[in-house]
Amino acid sequence: MVRVVVPNNRLLGTNSRLNTALGNMKSTVNIRRYHEADRDNVVSLWRRAFPNDPAHNEPSAVLAAKLAVDDLVFVAIDKDRIIGAAIAGYDGHRGWLYSVAVDQEVRRAGVGTILVHHMLDTLRSRGCIKINLQVRPTNKAVIAFYEALGFSVEERVSMGLLATNDAPQSAAADPNASPSSVG
Ligand SMILES: CC(C)(COP(=O)(O)OP(=O)(O)OC[C@H]1O[C@@H](n2cnc3c(N)ncnc32)[C@H](O)[C@@H]1OP(=O)(O)O)[C@@H](O)C(=O)NCCC(=O)NCCS
Repeated sequence: MVRVVVPNNRLLGTNSRLNTALGNMKSTVNIRRYHEADRDNVVSLWRRAFPNDPAHNEPSAVLAAKLAVDDLVFVAIDKDRIIGAAIAGYDGHRGWLYSVAVDQEVRRAGVGTILVHHMLDTLRSRGCIKINLQVRPTNKAVIAFYEALGFSVEERVSMGLLATNDAPQSAAADPNASPSSVG
């Protein structure tokens, strides 16, 4: 487990609403790999964070499929409570970030930042030199989050195909899906 110490002024800032919401939250957040005992809390967090995701992004199925491949699933913990979760991927060529989510009541407190930094360090330690992610163009808040982390928008066409046993279908965005969800 890696313990990330978040300076008090970073975690609590000057936002009184945030201070109230965070209550007595300690100024330390632990980032560690997912454990099996985390399952229900992680699935619940992702369901709250991505409420309208398409069926193929159902959190319990995504988690099971990811863990069948590798263990690059991370959680942010404060006082034994899971307040953030995310998936990293590395295929030997590119790294990817998926399902980065922080509990609504502790957003804008730096938790997403330390969670992503931890994943970037893990990917770099495996030799990964380029990390990509997808965000819907309408999701300005999440784009701002990644820009604050140093990511920049690259002009690419993102294409997808649902590789099920049924007839091939485009994996293009469902217009009713959550604005934050992709793929
Ligand atoms: C995106 C998300 C993970 C960010 O987590 P977070 O812990 O709130 O992010 P941080 O506190 O580390 O934010 C760091 C910086 O990113 C930017 N940022 C974060 N959220 C932002 C928002 N809603 N609007 C504008 N800028 C934002 C700010 O520059 C912020 O620094 P500041 O608070 O000092 O201004 C969180 O909002 C979330 O879980 N959203 C729902 C799930 C989602 O859409 N995930 C992305 C899937 S790809």
